[in-house]
Amino acid sequence: MAPPFRSSGLARARSAIAPRSSPRRFASATATSTRRENTEPSAASGKACAHRALRVRTSSSPLRCRTNICAPTILPGSIEDSLKELKLDYVDLLLVHWPNSKIPLKETMRALAKAKRDGLTRHIGVANFTIALLDEALGLCPEPLATNQVEFHPYLDQSKMLAACRRRGLVLTGHCPLGRGRLMNNPVLADIARRQGRTIAQVALRWSIQQRDVVPIPRSSAPGRIAENIDIFDFALTEDEMARIHALKRPGSRIANPAGRAPAWDS
Ligand SMILES: NC(=O)c1ccc[n+]([C@@H]2O[C@H](COP(=O)([O-])OP(=O)(O)OC[C@H]3O[C@@H](n4cnc5c(N)ncnc54)[C@H](OP(=O)(O)O)[C@@H]3O)[C@@H](O)[C@H]2O)c1
Repeated sequence: MAPPFRSSGLARARSAIAPRSSPRRFASATATSTRRENTEPSAASGKACAHRALRVRTSSSPLRCRTNICAPTILPGSIEDSLKELKLDYVDLLLVHWPNSKIPLKETMRALAKAKRDGLTRHIGVANFTIALLDEALGLCPEPLATNQVEFHPYLDQSKMLAACRRRGLVLTGHCPLGRGRLMNNPVLADIARRQGRTIAQVALRWSIQQRDVVPIPRSSAPGRIAENIDIFDFALTEDEMARIHALKRPGSRIANPAGRAPAWDS
């Protein structure tokens, strides 16, 4: 069974997202990559689906459940399939991947809460929810939510969402924290990186974590970059550097914005 939770919502989410020492529950980069490949829907498996609405995430291993149907009768089987593939009894964090207006949110949140109560996950949360949807989810979910995972990088203004998460005691998990590579030629980041003796990726990730309550989740297929991306805890950006990076936000910079699936964003 999953161990008990800590009392604070923020502590819970941080503990869910931060690396732990157990090799069983936190796969190496190689194993993670293999597992990700194995979880891609395949027509041959008969389990392929057009959308993947739920995401199972450990600190290093994103893995998606193979269904977009979050109804209570379907979800448990989907989670169990994913756990089998991960060779785990439970995960640390289970997220609704995208809001889905075709499925009553109440059912989804109840199913998610049940997964937690059944010990299949230690924490639950949502992803790509707007503030209004977040409030709806919080109101409907019988268990506390730990996080809202949303796109977060210097080009995108997520100040409203960050403030909303803070007010509700949630961590903001930042996906696409390197702007999927789009930040790499930015002259301001390059200048700060040169002054700090760091890389652009490290500066961008440091900017994320230096704002309270943000947990960026960069992805890399290169072991050297994975090591680089986590080596950001022994330096600090100055106030001026933080302000210069904040000033990089610009309209139209959202990357994960699938038509027909993305909600009406807050900003
Ligand atoms: N919930 C959602 O809807 C959602 C949406 C989008 C993404 N996500 C998740 O968020 C995570 C990250 O998002 P993402 O992969 O889209 O974007 P990202 O982490 O911002 O960017 C990944 C890209 O940056 C490169 N990169 C990584 N580290 C680097 C470094 N140190 N220097 C230079 N380039 C570097 C990677 O290339 P290499 O592999 O060659 O290093 C890859 O092309 C993933 O786990 C993804 O599944 C979630």
